[in-house]
Amino acid sequence: MLKLNVNIADRGYPIYIASDFSGLEKACYDAGLRSKMLLVTDSNVEKHYSRACVEELRKTGAEISVHVIPAGEHNKNLDTVIGIYRKLLEIKADRSSALVALGGGVTGDIAGFAAATFMRGIHFIQIPTSLIAQADSSIGGKTGVDFDGSKNMIGAFYQPRFVFINTNTLKTLPERELKSGLAEVIKHGLIMDADFYAYIDRNIDKILSFDENALEYMTKMNCRIKGTVVEQDERESGLRAILNFGHTIGHAVESVSGFSMLHGECVSAGIAGAYRLALKLGMTDKGTVDEVEGTLKKAGLPVKAPGMDTKKIMDQMFFDKKVKDGKLNFVLPKRIGEVQCCALNDKEILKEVLDELTVENIS
Ligand code: GLY
Repeated sequence: MLKLNVNIADRGYPIYIASDFSGLEKACYDAGLRSKMLLVTDSNVEKHYSRACVEELRKTGAEISVHVIPAGEHNKNLDTVIGIYRKLLEIKADRSSALVALGGGVTGDIAGFAAATFMRGIHFIQIPTSLIAQADSSIGGKTGVDFDGSKNMIGAFYQPRFVFINTNTLKTLPERELKSGLAEVIKHGLIMDADFYAYIDRNIDKILSFDENALEYMTKMNCRIKGTVVEQDERESGLRAILNFGHTIGHAVESVSGFSMLHGECVSAGIAGAYRLALKLGMTDKGTVDEVEGTLKKAGLPVKAPGMDTKKIMDQMFFDKKVKDGKLNFVLPKRIGEVQCCALNDKEILKEVLDELTVENIS
């Protein structure tokens, strides 16, 4: 089992990377968690991993209860959070209790928000089982729910006590979701580490066939990159915004698609959009755009959102929280492995890019 640390002043925590759940008891012990625990999982993940996790958690001597939430982004709302509060009241949880999120990014975000707000904050543990969650959302303390059609509109920064990643849980993930997670992995290489990007590009097949060494290396690098950014800017007042690479367009596409496109698929189209914007602004060249789009396609990810309404995407982007003084904030590539934050004044260029992404037959 590997152990990395996220070093945030007085809220730092370990990330464990393992190939099963056997280290969970010790992780709880080291975090001093032995009181009541509520494991929150969704209706898909429950059947695969709930029993194994509960068995491990029980070894701590804690009283463990399970609460199953309905799967899917459309359940990432305050009603689901209320269901968790009710269960916490039913089991008589107190401030020494822990809420354990077992599942993908949606489960982690919802459960994290419930943990952050129940009794003004109870202990929180992340056990991410999807690639999106293992690569990105379980690390860094962003929690929250969607509200009135907008992603993550209600939320809190709330760090877990630890993150426990069993990379073998990826084996039960639907292939489309595994590929969706690769968008965040590719994003990490593109924003910060050209060698890691090249590694992923060369090893996509190994990752998709669950080669244990490739999964372990990929996970370690994801956690390192994400952890490094969060350590420097926990609350996104500067550097952390680079993790939104591909997300300004991506989140809007996700909302406008009515969540029929998966998060990573939208981020992938958003990354392609960011490169196309950079090309129009003279910040990159066509060869680099083609190379990046080639990697995304090799991972089975879309680089377009064909047939979607450009105006709706544009309106959603302005409605989202990435607007400041009426200007859209974008993270744009400088070169592979480096990005920069820019305010975009020229809506016409953005419209051209969105037209390219949404028109069916333009290459
Ligand atoms: N997923 C972006 C962040 O955690 O900041």
